[in-house]
Amino acid sequence: MVNVKNIVVIGVGLMGNGIAQISLMAGYNTTLVDISQEVIDKAAASIEGGLKKLESKGVLNAAENLARMKTSLDLASAVKDADLIIEAVVEDMDVKKKLFKICDENAPPHAVIASNTSTMSITEMASATKREDKCIGIHFFNPAPLMRLVEVIAGEKSSEESMEIGVNVSKSLPCLRGDRYVAKVLKDRPGFIVNRLNAPGGIYMNYLLDTCLEKGIPFESLDADFGSRGPMSPLVLSDYTGIDTGFHVRNYYADTLHEDFRPGKVITKMFKEGKHGRKSGQGFYDWTKGRPQPDFSKIEKAGLVNPGVFLAISLNEGCRILEEGIASGWKIIDDANVAGMNAPGPFEYGIKNWEGLVKLLEEFSEKMGREYLKPCDLFRSGKFVDMK
Ligand SMILES: NC(=O)c1ccc[n+]([C@@H]2O[C@H](COP(=O)([O-])OP(=O)(O)OC[C@H]3O[C@@H](n4cnc5c(N)ncnc54)[C@H](O)[C@@H]3O)[C@@H](O)[C@H]2O)c1
Repeated sequence: MVNVKNIVVIGVGLMGNGIAQISLMAGYNTTLVDISQEVIDKAAASIEGGLKKLESKGVLNAAENLARMKTSLDLASAVKDADLIIEAVVEDMDVKKKLFKICDENAPPHAVIASNTSTMSITEMASATKREDKCIGIHFFNPAPLMRLVEVIAGEKSSEESMEIGVNVSKSLPCLRGDRYVAKVLKDRPGFIVNRLNAPGGIYMNYLLDTCLEKGIPFESLDADFGSRGPMSPLVLSDYTGIDTGFHVRNYYADTLHEDFRPGKVITKMFKEGKHGRKSGQGFYDWTKGRPQPDFSKIEKAGLVNPGVFLAISLNEGCRILEEGIASGWKIIDDANVAGMNAPGPFEYGIKNWEGLVKLLEEFSEKMGREYLKPCDLFRSGKFVDMK
């Protein structure tokens, strides 16, 4: 088994920056690589700031950590003595394959190459190398120092040993909010575990938004149906993460899983009109004066949302994840959702009334005309209950 000492992080934007910081904090020699010196300088400054803040709280010695940090614009030389490489560059398969190839040609034969992709196939990236057994996914959640979950993903040809290295290193990376939780993803399928579990909720959301459009119901009334649970209501959150991101993600799942994921009329129109949410100043809400704070006690509810349907959809998707062999048991799916989304998983809540939820989903999938939302065989059979 490789004793990992040297980690190279490629692409130190939003995600890579946080990954590099926790890599240093865990004691690894860490090299930051990017194509932009400006990005590298910004990432290094942000890491230094983060470490100094932790030093002031007596958590660590910043200078000792920073002494292990290197930066480089030249990937080929940066990976020469790497034991583990984690790429976190733009979500573009061609770019990722190009980088995997450079790493393969220049890193020592034992080095494991990992991708932080949220969606793309690890197997396809690995095909650009001559070490497909040593390519895996290591998927962090944003921001990596604060979000507890890491998914370690096996591509079709990943070896047990590479997976073990990925799991061990991930477990060693500190999390500033609680214990790190590492979930093994046994199949390289779209969305892995947590994003996949939550993806079909978007099909119901498309349906609700399009129903508002048809009936002339204001969107904020739909938001009022959910109330202000959590730090942001669902439509404020959609604006925050970006309507364009939501549009692309829905299309990705439509292309890889089922046509029912395709963006609905409302999301498509907003995307085309450039109403992308926070970043464009306008989405479901006006963001020009900062984050909108709708007062739901004063907004009439649309009366469209059935929370039980969201639970049933999520439980059904959890069963598909088990059916496809992506996770080995439902406890992992629930725990991963808590660690990655700060939200409870569907099994613990749904299992008591699974038969009622199957019935509810049968009725709703029929009413919505969405084939994908029909209860899968495992859900319908109830056999998942014992697959803890
Ligand atoms: N943003 C999220 O919430 C999130 C969460 C989990 C995973 N991810 C995944 O992490 C990856 C990075 O996302 P991000 O949001 O940090 O993106 P980002 O745009 O903030 O950062 C990407 C960085 O990669 C650099 N880069 C681009 N091409 C490069 C190349 N050829 N060589 C070296 N560096 C290069 C860019 O200069 C940029 O600094 C993506 O695969 C994304 O799917 C993102």
